[in-house]
Amino acid sequence: MSPETTGPAAVIVLAAGAGTRMKSRTPKILHEIGGLSMVGHALLAARSINPLKLALVVRHERDRVAEHVSALDPEAVIVDQDEIPGTGRAVEVALKALDAEAELTGTVVVTYGDVPLLTGELLSELVATHEAQANAVTVLTAVLDDASGYGRILRAEDGTVTGIREHKDASEAEHTILEVNSGIYAFDASVLRNALTQVTTDNAQGEMYLTDVLGLARDAGGRVAAVVTQDRWQVEGANDRIQLSALGAELNRRIVESWMRAGVTVVDPSTTWIDSTVRLDEDVRLLPNTQLHGSTTVARDAVVGPDTTLTDVNVGEGAKVTRTHGSGSRIGAGASVGPFTYLRPGTVLGETGKIGAFYETKNVTIGRGSKLSHLGYAGDAEIGEDTNIGCGNITANYDGEKKHRTVIGSGVRTGSNTVFVAPVTVGDGAYSGAGAVIRKDVPAGALAVSLAAQRNAEGWVQANRPGTVSAKLAQAAQDSLLTPASNSSQSPATTEEGK
Ligand code: UD1
Ligand code: MG
Repeated sequence: MSPETTGPAAVIVLAAGAGTRMKSRTPKILHEIGGLSMVGHALLAARSINPLKLALVVRHERDRVAEHVSALDPEAVIVDQDEIPGTGRAVEVALKALDAEAELTGTVVVTYGDVPLLTGELLSELVATHEAQANAVTVLTAVLDDASGYGRILRAEDGTVTGIREHKDASEAEHTILEVNSGIYAFDASVLRNALTQVTTDNAQGEMYLTDVLGLARDAGGRVAAVVTQDRWQVEGANDRIQLSALGAELNRRIVESWMRAGVTVVDPSTTWIDSTVRLDEDVRLLPNTQLHGSTTVARDAVVGPDTTLTDVNVGEGAKVTRTHGSGSRIGAGASVGPFTYLRPGTVLGETGKIGAFYETKNVTIGRGSKLSHLGYAGDAEIGEDTNIGCGNITANYDGEKKHRTVIGSGVRTGSNTVFVAPVTVGDGAYSGAGAVIRKDVPAGALAVSLAAQRNAEGWVQANRPGTVSAKLAQAAQDSLLTPASNSSQSPATTEEGK
């Protein structure tokens, strides 16, 4: 639905229940699938139909739920349910709160905080049908193989919906009905307001049933109807962790499928997990065992995977990210990362740059075309363009108390196993020798070497390790140098040019 379309007067999301079967210290609706809490999904669906007002009814763990919801949707009105139990009471308190400013007129939609696969499309269809038919109440229903536990849809001979009977209040005959109440409805505001004044707790559970409103609306002369969905996942709630995981897998299947339709190659959908918040361009390729979370984006022609997990990472056009675990990072266009690379937050790799195998990076900006190809750590650092960091280089950024920065210029070449003891700065075009420990700034164009000169103790092995394989081979090598027959004229040391 486009933003300019006017939606219903309100959506009321019910979320006061305890969710005890989750067996969790975390409130049920805060459990996540597809990178977002269940209530987060419910809020997105509700918002997508542009209601004038959105209310969420809380009671169990109200502070944690309210804080979470307000962070996601600051405009949502948080309403506290009192000690009177039932979905009818939940809607009644929400309606009172929303009416406080000005009495609502038009359509009021009710949904649940624990039904995460419900889409805005299905909600709009419900509202459109409700309004087109000028109904008093329109209920979203589904036909299940096993309807046990649900409220059953009662219909007259001609198919007209006459009411809903809760499982615990139903007769033997009513238990055989397979059409169930999803708990999602569109109501006319004034019908709802009037009917709720007549709803009692006189039933098997001693609760105010919202479902009673259907019968009361009919008694008052209103038209009650149903929208039957074929897509049972959209009305399914998660009551325990088994259902949570089933809903999570189905949500992921839908997300992966929609990206494939949008032009993304997914080699193995069953091992590819993509949060609903991730954005991908056409012609991205995702290889098996790839997980993309949070605000991750992947630009055109990039290849991610196999065995890669990225959280809040932006992958540039045509980049390659192989067997990498990354978060909070940016990978430039045409750059390459991996295999076996750990990108920690604040890593920014420039275009066509490289962070190679067995590298860990954190809070480091690497300029265009610079390469950190093998085995090392770069943290709290800034590296210029077209610099080559040799194998095994380390930024020693932590002095035991504080972190310090390493600044390395452009066009720099560092020898293997160089250690940068921060804070330290290396100028443009500088070199370092293998094993250098850089404690002082290196000016542009200088070669930095820091190790003591090499000393060879001749004959040490034969003297100190007599009889070993090393000693025997060393002796043989020395003997061959001394024997004139084997010291042929091919040896460069004896040729004219070699002298
Ligand atoms: C309710 C319906 C039932 C329907 C089923 C679908 C009623 C009386 N029954 O069943 O017809 O088939 O949903 O799942 O409405 N909630 C509150 N306050 C309360 C009670 C519940 O906010 O006092 C919220 C819960 O957090 C939950 C939703 O309402 O999100 C449904 O509650 P739940 O107890 O799961 O549903 P049932 O009463 O079993
Ligand atoms: Mg209940």
